[in-house]
Amino acid sequence: LVAGVDSSTQSTKVVVCDAETGRVVRTARAPHPDGTEVHPDRWWDAFEQASGSGILDGVSAVAVGGQQHGMVTLDEDDTVVRDALLWNDTRSAAAARDLTAELGGVGAWVDAVGLVPVASFTVTKLRWLAEHEPENAARVARVVLPHDWLTGRILQQGNGFDRWSTDRGDASGTGYWSAADDDYRLDLLERAFGRVIEVPEVLAPAQPAGRTEGGLLVAAGTGDNMGAALGLTLQPGDVVVSLGTSGTVFTPHDSAIRDETGAIAGFADATGHHLPLMCTLNAARVLTAAASMLGVDLTELDRLALKASPGAGGLSLLPYLDGERTPDLPDASGTLSGLTRSNASPENFARCAVEGMLCNLVAGVDALRDKGVEVGRILLIGGAAASLAVREIAPGLFRAPVVVPAPAEYVGVGAARQAAWALSGEQDPPTWALEIDSEYAVRPGDEQAHADVVARYQDLVARMHGV
Ligand code: XUL
Repeated sequence: LVAGVDSSTQSTKVVVCDAETGRVVRTARAPHPDGTEVHPDRWWDAFEQASGSGILDGVSAVAVGGQQHGMVTLDEDDTVVRDALLWNDTRSAAAARDLTAELGGVGAWVDAVGLVPVASFTVTKLRWLAEHEPENAARVARVVLPHDWLTGRILQQGNGFDRWSTDRGDASGTGYWSAADDDYRLDLLERAFGRVIEVPEVLAPAQPAGRTEGGLLVAAGTGDNMGAALGLTLQPGDVVVSLGTSGTVFTPHDSAIRDETGAIAGFADATGHHLPLMCTLNAARVLTAAASMLGVDLTELDRLALKASPGAGGLSLLPYLDGERTPDLPDASGTLSGLTRSNASPENFARCAVEGMLCNLVAGVDALRDKGVEVGRILLIGGAAASLAVREIAPGLFRAPVVVPAPAEYVGVGAARQAAWALSGEQDPPTWALEIDSEYAVRPGDEQAHADVVARYQDLVARMHGV
């Protein structure tokens, strides 16, 4: 047996799988506090709570998939200096703009590390810390990511810890590691923070981070999106749309993708290749918010949305409830547009919430197409993939067939697959089959209607925000 840990924004999940087949044997979860900054000890508490019931009994190897980009600062003694600032914290937006200008614009950053700085990335959070909390900044001896910290903590527990480590996938989301060069850019870290601090060693995909005293092998771990990619055993042409706390669009790729618009970040994956990815701050929680505004549950929201026609009678929703990252609008809020007395119905409102959430991600799928990616099919995962309305409406908006994999914690499954790989010592990860739950085709009659929805949405973004 092998285990994968998904330490995400809202909870920790532990998934135990059969190492040969990948069959999920048991799972457990425990919540994290809500918010955009949190003490890493809360991740440990949740991990202990989720694994407390003996879920790891009989497990030979474990790996952690963690929310990307979070800034965990440690002092000389490895004590946490301040609460970790998470990927969805937008306070470093001004630092992102400053850093972009200082290096000579977006092109220089894309050349250096494959990304355009936004508030999510670790490098901009370090600049914010140096500028706004100099006393805390002075105490920082090293910086690690959420999955690095939890991996180290699991090893420390058994005194199997000798150094902080990370993997290519998570390192590629810092802004001071280049997926194209497979190396750190410590000059950029120094530029952001004012001095060089220690960074974790970047392990190869199947290289173990260590062993606990009890003999449990701890694999390198990775970022949550890289974990999901590994858990889904993706084929060429597969594009994943993940609708969780964040919305992400990504696909496995052999080479680094360069995108000066900043829509696509040039991340590495957890297998030695690349994972170009677009991320929004608003996804599943847009539906929760819409349901609560209507005073209904998510099932009823689905029913209402499916009763309305494509285009929601002319209503459009820009779903920037938490600001937005792609497009880079950290201070934006949501906009409901096109409201008239004749279209003001719960059905149209439910429909425009689903369409708005998805239109925000259409930009990611189209940005991948612009870079030459052939979109064969969309794999829909994450909490909001359970929505029938999302499943029905997505193919027309994305202009591609949609498949929904059997419900599973794919980040946890992917981390477990990495653990099995590290345990096997083989060249390639074990072959685990992906079970598909249902498939949704593009309905020919809907094509024009959906193209109109996307065009109206994009026009509204341009009019409201000039992008
Ligand atoms: C990706 C991103 C989020 C987090 C949280 O760049 O910021 O998807 O990994 O899940």
